[in-house]
Amino acid sequence: MYYAYQRRIDIIVDNIEEKDEIDNQIDSFKNNNEFKIEIKNLKKSFKVKDKLNKNKEVELSVLDGVNLNIKSGEFLAILGPSGCGKSTLLDIIGGLSNQSDGEIFIDGKPVDGPGLNRGIVFQQYTLLPWKNTLENVAFPLENSFNKKKRIKIAKDYISLVGLSSFEDRYPHELSGGMKQRVAIARALAINPEILLMDEPFAAVDAQTRATLQEDLLKITEKYKKTVVFITHSIEEAVFLGDKIAIMSSEPSTIKEEIKIPISREFRIIKDFKSSTEFLRLRNKTLGILKEEVIKSQEISKSSFPNEEILTEEGI
Ligand SMILES: Nc1ncnc2c1ncn2[C@@H]1O[C@H](COP(=O)(O)OP(=O)(O)OP(=O)(O)O)[C@@H](O)[C@H]1O
Ligand SMILES: [Mg+2]
Repeated sequence: MYYAYQRRIDIIVDNIEEKDEIDNQIDSFKNNNEFKIEIKNLKKSFKVKDKLNKNKEVELSVLDGVNLNIKSGEFLAILGPSGCGKSTLLDIIGGLSNQSDGEIFIDGKPVDGPGLNRGIVFQQYTLLPWKNTLENVAFPLENSFNKKKRIKIAKDYISLVGLSSFEDRYPHELSGGMKQRVAIARALAINPEILLMDEPFAAVDAQTRATLQEDLLKITEKYKKTVVFITHSIEEAVFLGDKIAIMSSEPSTIKEEIKIPISREFRIIKDFKSSTEFLRLRNKTLGILKEEVIKSQEISKSSFPNEEILTEEGI
């Protein structure tokens, strides 16, 4: 089953003309830089209205000295309590917003805005409702390729995510899982070296999610993408991540990094999720995260369903 799937991926990948070029770029990069992304003492605060005096603005400190190094080709999963600043961090890596302080480097260069080296899959569905699947995936290529080439590239990536027979469907005609596949194809179509993903599978059913997870692992391994993947699911983080970064409650820092010492091949083929090692890593991660979720609940006095949060895979 795995080999049949791998063959399918191989055939599709071989058809993508830019592959060799990307591989060369990645190899040359690997020789020069230890880390693809370096985040040093990153801080971010927002001006918000004072709760007691609506005419007054106060500083809300969200990120308070985040340090992270992500190697080229590494899959980093980020976990943290709701509202701790995960999306804020991803936006800054994506160049969509600026940090208040600290530094962030990609390939050793400071980030100063969005770029084609980063593909983003956002927390909410962001497909253009008036464009069909093919047009949505081809859209970011408009400034880079002629129409024929755009369609060829878009078709290749749509095929890669298994949606070839849905090319002419509009977003409202697609299921949640399909929409996420389109969003992933669109992010991959620009051939980014880095994929930034913000809870991309949160809204799909468990079965679809498991399939999407496996597909993502295979695709990112095949293309040697560097991935930053935000999730609320501990199991998803342990399955996908080469490394997990656990963020503290706000104002956030990286509380702990956990390495997942299991090869991706083993994770996919050997039913890693049923292994005792998986359970061990899951429980270790849960233990660390639990403390932060409780702290965050105390801070926000929110009405999260406590028991459910701490025992289910979602947090
Ligand atoms: N533009 C903004 N202006 C003011 N406050 C903001 C802004 N964007 C985010 N925040 C605040 O920053 C904090 C972190 O938000 P963020 O969306 O990064 O959290 P998160 O960890 O992604 O949460 P979730 O897990 O629920 O998606 C929250 O308190 C949020 O209200
Ligand atoms: Mg978020």
